[in-house]
Amino acid sequence: MFQINENYLKLPGSYLFSTIGKKVSAFTAANPDKKIIRLGIGDVTLPLAPAVIEAMHKAVDEMGNADTFHGYAPDLGYEFLRTAIVENDYKARGVDISIDEIFVSDGAKSDSGNIGEIFGDNNRIAVCDPVYPVYVDSNVMAGRTGEYIADKERWSNVIYMPCTADNNFSPELPKETPDMIYLCFPNNPTGSTITKAELQKWVDYAIKVGAVIIYDAAYEAYISEEDVPHSIYECKDAKSCAIELRSFSKNAGFTGTRLGFTVVPKELKCGDVSLNALWARRHGTKFNGAPYIIQRAGEAVYSEAGKAQTKEQIAYYMNNAKIIREGLLGAGFEAFGGVNAPYIWLKTPDKMTSWEFFDYLLEKVNIVGTPGSGFGPSGEGYFRLTAFGSYENTLAAIERIKNI
Ligand SMILES: Cc1ncc(COP(=O)(O)O)c(C=O)c1O
Repeated sequence: MFQINENYLKLPGSYLFSTIGKKVSAFTAANPDKKIIRLGIGDVTLPLAPAVIEAMHKAVDEMGNADTFHGYAPDLGYEFLRTAIVENDYKARGVDISIDEIFVSDGAKSDSGNIGEIFGDNNRIAVCDPVYPVYVDSNVMAGRTGEYIADKERWSNVIYMPCTADNNFSPELPKETPDMIYLCFPNNPTGSTITKAELQKWVDYAIKVGAVIIYDAAYEAYISEEDVPHSIYECKDAKSCAIELRSFSKNAGFTGTRLGFTVVPKELKCGDVSLNALWARRHGTKFNGAPYIIQRAGEAVYSEAGKAQTKEQIAYYMNNAKIIREGLLGAGFEAFGGVNAPYIWLKTPDKMTSWEFFDYLLEKVNIVGTPGSGFGPSGEGYFRLTAFGSYENTLAAIERIKNI
């Protein structure tokens, strides 16, 4: 008789977005005349940049011709894309990464979920609280998290690092020693970030305790301040302790076309074993490459036209972020983020819970956001709004919020 992976049974249901969906549907059914504005989603809304579309069209035509047709892609990704990544994302920032340390993938969600496969089951993980749920859930599936303690909304074997207004949403070094540390800056959901000096402390700590850092830099393109690192490898010695995850989803709108990459430096070792070799083995066995057409589209993001056009898209979203942030502050809310990230994290007024504020906003001004408690217990009493809507809707939403 076959057995299942019983760790899956430990996972509590992921009710956040389905509960939001149900509440919004019920409201719409009862109030068909009301125009709802959605500032809850973490998905982009602008179309792909013209340079990207042009590269895709060209690649589609190549696929229709026997002389230029492409079958399976190389395991690590096409060299043209890995070279563009190395030159633009790393060399241009003074970071020395070689193309065989880059693994092209179909996005940072898969990579953040899969990377755990090359680590032992007994490793103890540390995560920020609130957190992007994939880091925790993928470790539950792997059996690393212990038991779920429902009343505390915590896993018994996970080290939680609270990120609240008290510590400026920047985690403190944990008291218990982790083996794997998940960090994400700029952060989803809090929109906070970390200075280079602060990140260096994490690198030094990881080296001292023998931990690995999984650094999710999916939102690096939104950084506007000088002192904020775009890559963990800007920190000294980070190549010996950190893996970096990157995505084309938020910097170039590839959420529906799927492209990302992971950097596993050759210096990163466990004893004599190279993690780069382990990830190469895993990638080669279980992943058959991102499509040629999409990798060409990714290359176009780094062309002069592609850079200028995607920069404009980010400026559009960040203008929305500014409108939300300043509008909220002007209306007397405590609001955070929105300067180096497309997320604005606000404190709910009058000690409302995150869900109470969700209902209040929906019913009173017909705006949908995301309750902070859905990202972890320390998110209770907070609420996330995103800058990915249209300019017009963002303006209208803030006008409505100002009047409540
Ligand atoms: C922190 C973080 N990492 C990764 C992802 C997923 O990126 P991708 O679209 O490349 O899978 C998201 C998406 O919202 C995210 O917020």
